[in-house]
Amino acid sequence: MFVPEPIPHVRKPRVHREVVSFTRRGGRLTERLQKGWDDLSATHVLDIPRSTTSTSLDPEFRLDLAKAFGREAPTIMEIGSGRGESIVHAALENPDKNFLALEVYVPGVAQGLVTMRHLGATNVRFAVVDAAAALATMLPEASLEELRVWFPDPWHKKKHNKRRLISPDFAPLAARVIQPGGYWRLATDWQEYADHMHEVLSEAAGFDYSGTWAPRFEGRPVTRFESNGLEVGRDIRDLSARRLSE
Ligand SMILES: C[S@@+](CC[C@H](N)C(=O)[O-])C[C@H]1O[C@@H](n2cnc3c(N)ncnc32)[C@H](O)[C@@H]1O
Repeated sequence: MFVPEPIPHVRKPRVHREVVSFTRRGGRLTERLQKGWDDLSATHVLDIPRSTTSTSLDPEFRLDLAKAFGREAPTIMEIGSGRGESIVHAALENPDKNFLALEVYVPGVAQGLVTMRHLGATNVRFAVVDAAAALATMLPEASLEELRVWFPDPWHKKKHNKRRLISPDFAPLAARVIQPGGYWRLATDWQEYADHMHEVLSEAAGFDYSGTWAPRFEGRPVTRFESNGLEVGRDIRDLSARRLSE
């Protein structure tokens, strides 16, 4: 009787991964979101060369913002745009500006594309990429008028705190991409993360920070995520810092 040789178990080389601020990235798209993605991703989602995973970035890649948006205009970027509610709202309010959304959760990006089309915004582009990597190399220096981070994952367990996006290491990346006079705006519903953000901004080189909570930023609509926080009685904290000239 012929007995086949066992196929040797080949271990895939392990891709080295830094600690990242996210876990979920994919998930199945509903038919509606898949159609939105198919219709709009070629024109409105940046084509990014990867180094390893689907959210990684070839460190040699430099983004040409004028090419990505088809025009020169001040650019506002949101990290962790979720379902795209805030960025599409802001884009509609400011048609003379470019809005770049970085988000690793593909169904969220697909929802953002669908909302953008539904409401008629043309000045939004999405990028499925780890924001920390994008800030370090992909974006040109001083290329942003504003950097917004609304309700980043709080990673509230002590053992997970190291996954938080906003950290002392993140501050120089923000300083690299925000132009002098531009703003870094943050919001969270998690008080302990707000206190941590406050410490990061207090220590961040190259920023003018008032040292107090900012008034609610009027350009920020209440997202589903924020209303969940409000429903369970959390306080919402806004923070902002202005990039100084060198
Ligand atoms: C708690 S949700 C908030 C979403 C949205 N800003 C809102 O207010 O509804 C945080 C989002 O940040 C995204 N995210 C986390 N780390 C990221 C990273 N390093 N780069 C890009 N997106 C990230 C997550 O996928 C998630 O959608």
